[in-house]
Amino acid sequence: MAEGWYDADIERVVVSEERLRERVDSLAKEVAADYAEHDSVLLVGVLKGAFVFMADFARALGRNGRHAEVEFMAISSYGQGATSSGVVRILKDLDRDIAGRHVIVVEDIVDSGLTLSWLLRYLASRAAASVRVVALLRKPDAATVEVDVQYVGFDIPNDFVVGYGLDYAERYREVPYIGVLKPAVYTRG
Ligand code: IMP
Repeated sequence: MAEGWYDADIERVVVSEERLRERVDSLAKEVAADYAEHDSVLLVGVLKGAFVFMADFARALGRNGRHAEVEFMAISSYGQGATSSGVVRILKDLDRDIAGRHVIVVEDIVDSGLTLSWLLRYLASRAAASVRVVALLRKPDAATVEVDVQYVGFDIPNDFVVGYGLDYAERYREVPYIGVLKPAVYTRG
């Protein structure tokens, strides 16, 4: 297989392309079965990190017989620092009314859970009929917050990861797997 420009920066692969493909498909099967009674579902992707997962998940739902519409929101929770503050800014709001819709929030990763708990309150205030969450990745700290994530792809260790939509300083989003960067990447400025 051809080598990506990024491979030399990766210390280790946490979730391989093959495991991602299989898990996205099995999550979609689960969701398709749970929503079999509904006419349609509205996927709300959280930019930018969820864009790759969203694209694969929506297509996997389709393959499993489930029609889905897509919307995106962009929110910023980290500000300048590297830890979540719980202070959330809407960078891009929903383009349409979600009142009465069955919404599935598509998240890349739940870490502290602060971003997600804010988002769930926001969507509830917009009168969605139901809101569930599918998160590709979950870190251990997420267990300590009161957010209900109904569908989780992988529980991963508490390391900073990149790839499959997740970035470090806006890089590595196109990496096709989930990986941990070499420490040298953070010091080379
Ligand atoms: P939370 O509010 O702490 O749950 O943060 C969630 C958001 O922080 C995610 O949607 C990501 O955008 C970002 N984030 C958290 N952990 C990582 C990571 O390991 N790599 C890249 N982004 C992360």
